Amino acid sequence: MRKFQWAIFSMFLCLYSASYPLQAQDLLMPHSIAAIVKTDKIQGGIRFTTSDQHIVWITTYSPTIIRVRVTDLKPTPDESYAVIGQVKPAFTAIRESATEWILQTDSLEVHVQKKPLRIAFYHRDGTYLDGDDPQLGITWQGSQVYSYRKLQDPEKFVGLGEKTGPLNRRGLSYVNWNTDAGYQTYSDPLYATYPFYIGILPRHVFGLFFDNTFKSFFNFGGSTDDRMYFFGAEGGEMNYYFFGASTVAGILQDYTALTGRMPMPPLWSLGYQQCRYSYMSQQQLLDVARRFRQDSLPCDVIYCDIDYMRGYRVFTWNPKTYPDPKSMTDTLKKLGMHLVTIIDPGIKIDSNGYEPYLSGLAHGYFARYPDGKPYTGSVWAGRSHFPDFTREDARQWWGEQFQVLVNSGVTGFWNDMNEPAAWGQNIPPVVEFGTGNHVATIQQVHNVYGMQMARATYEGTRKLLNGMRPFVLTRAAYSGVQRYSAEWTGDNFATDDNMIMGYRTLNSMGLSGESFVGMDIGGFNGNPTPELYVRWMSLGIYTPLLRNHTAKGNTSHEPWAWGEFNEAIVRRFLQTRYRLLPYLYSCFYESHTTGMPVNRSLAIDYTYDEHIYDPRFDAQFLFGPFMLVAPVVSSQQACEVYLPHGQWYRFSTDQLYAGDTSWWVPAPLDDLPVFVKAGAIIPMQNAVESTANPGDGVLRIHVWYGPDSTSFTYYEDDGQTYQYEQGQYLVRQLKFSPETRQFEIGPATGSYTSRFKQIEWIGHHFPANAQFTVNGKPVTVKHLPNDLTILTLPDATGSATIQWEP
Ligand code: GLC
Repeated sequence: MRKFQWAIFSMFLCLYSASYPLQAQDLLMPHSIAAIVKTDKIQGGIRFTTSDQHIVWITTYSPTIIRVRVTDLKPTPDESYAVIGQVKPAFTAIRESATEWILQTDSLEVHVQKKPLRIAFYHRDGTYLDGDDPQLGITWQGSQVYSYRKLQDPEKFVGLGEKTGPLNRRGLSYVNWNTDAGYQTYSDPLYATYPFYIGILPRHVFGLFFDNTFKSFFNFGGSTDDRMYFFGAEGGEMNYYFFGASTVAGILQDYTALTGRMPMPPLWSLGYQQCRYSYMSQQQLLDVARRFRQDSLPCDVIYCDIDYMRGYRVFTWNPKTYPDPKSMTDTLKKLGMHLVTIIDPGIKIDSNGYEPYLSGLAHGYFARYPDGKPYTGSVWAGRSHFPDFTREDARQWWGEQFQVLVNSGVTGFWNDMNEPAAWGQNIPPVVEFGTGNHVATIQQVHNVYGMQMARATYEGTRKLLNGMRPFVLTRAAYSGVQRYSAEWTGDNFATDDNMIMGYRTLNSMGLSGESFVGMDIGGFNGNPTPELYVRWMSLGIYTPLLRNHTAKGNTSHEPWAWGEFNEAIVRRFLQTRYRLLPYLYSCFYESHTTGMPVNRSLAIDYTYDEHIYDPRFDAQFLFGPFMLVAPVVSSQQACEVYLPHGQWYRFSTDQLYAGDTSWWVPAPLDDLPVFVKAGAIIPMQNAVESTANPGDGVLRIHVWYGPDSTSFTYYEDDGQTYQYEQGQYLVRQLKFSPETRQFEIGPATGSYTSRFKQIEWIGHHFPANAQFTVNGKPVTVKHLPNDLTILTLPDATGSATIQWEP
């Protein structure tokens, strides 16, 4: 630097430090957003510029979805891994007063105070829903950004996806930083990030999705002495979507309209899935598969954990232990089973002809240090590089690697270790991803890495499978992952506590848009007692993803390993699962079309019932719209169950219980407390050992009598291709109307022909001695003990009205 330049520079430094003597500390001190100085109307909303040089963009995605994004004066591109919805103008009026702006949609009102800028959301009936804390509002502290919000009394919070803890998260705080965690009942963080919660007020609800992929924090009034609640992140923008639909179901529908819904899963993936770490050889795996058939145990899926690979090199088979994988999957196919193989992201550093390593390196597809050298971390395979799934070209390349597995007949792909995990858990923050304008460090990318791996796997295998549906399972996730993959909750423990907590966690994931969820049934770490194993399997059949798994060195988890007596009980559980498949598949269709989860926290249908938040009952859930499941520990043979409003029948005995109260009920190991709601419509089939078996061709529509009208959307398709996207499906509305004494089976829409040739209608507790007609013609019915009425429809294809008198 020349003398003259140095003088100018020093002068500037002096002036600068004179006016900002505490500059370094200042940067770390909190700074709340200042006053509005400029306002512009923009497409779909309004834009405010503030005196402290921020822009606040408030736009609508529907009358019930309002986005708040805060940028500096030169915003970076507006991109999201989660959001696929688009701006839709929905403000019907924008007014200004001396102190605030008022933005109205058909459902909501947003009040934006001018000085300083503070945002509040109101229902159109005038009720205050949620908004900024008056003092703090949107606040920065260094690179961290926070939203401090008013905490109301009484206000509850549910959601945040895969988290431990109670249903009501009030008073608790959580961190989102996807972590390889062997976890206990209150561990945090876990493997996935769903920065979405639902606030519950005395008669109103709202939702909020903070779309920020940095490490994020949610504090629902923990250690704030109820002054406020807040969320924030280590970097990135304040960028959230406020949901103002008037029910929890409506909020979930909006949230999944914004972040996407699951495709229809392959039907086989809803069957029983047997996994373990690991079946060490092809021979052992086939022996296990054959034993399922010998013992008449329903099962559709068997897994290869990491030991099928050659030295843990992904996309290879161990030639010694798995010498002929194609003949193995051919045999499995004959047994009615599919194979799922695990794939970790880490690619072993091996220049000795290992193609995935060589091609990944040649293309520069691995995450890297700032000097361009690929980042190296150690995982199962030893020293490894990690694909950069944020890049489209790298995702495509990754997808193509599955050819070797698809050629071997594999149809399911299990993505593990994708937090990403590296031994030591601490990938240097300087590690970089992306190219061009999209370069980002791991601090920004970490929480979406797993989701982008699942995306690459889903998109790649969907192409390779030539029109058949792949099944993809991931451990790490971010909001929107439901578009690509099912998720399981990682390395739990074989304890009663962990099992019950696990159901709360699954219910919470359902409250965050991810419906196809499961846990390691029986527990990953440690060995369950026989009682715990049996109890967990009984709960398992009411889990969207019914997958049993355990760690190396643990006792066997196959049903025959627990003695004949227990095996017989488990066989009956599994048969019940398969009987329920027509109901379950239709529930998945609901997830696919509306975002309603299969496992439904009672907070969805019974939002304002205080009892459902009681820790004694808050793991209970509805399996689909009509079945209530009460998780109960294995040491208890009776338990207290809370039955919400309505009347309920015990599923196993048809005994009637009144709702709005709790009951002590028997809970022996072979009879989990499961109840069906009066008016329930549950289509079933006969028990088969594999979904590949069409069964006896009879669809059995069970209906439990009740005082109120109910309906159910029945759905069917071929269960394996994407033809349903072209209209090859069958949808029928089923409607029970006690007032008019009718049950209607609506006309079939869609071009798929049902696999069922006959429909049997089974009424539970319908009036004894009633006369039945179908489409006006008298029919003979069978009356069985236990108040069962059975009739066979003369025609299974046309619509039918079943009527009873008196
Ligand atoms: C991880 C997975 C577990 C798997 C093991 C070996 O711990 O969470 O499910 O069995 O790795 O691949």
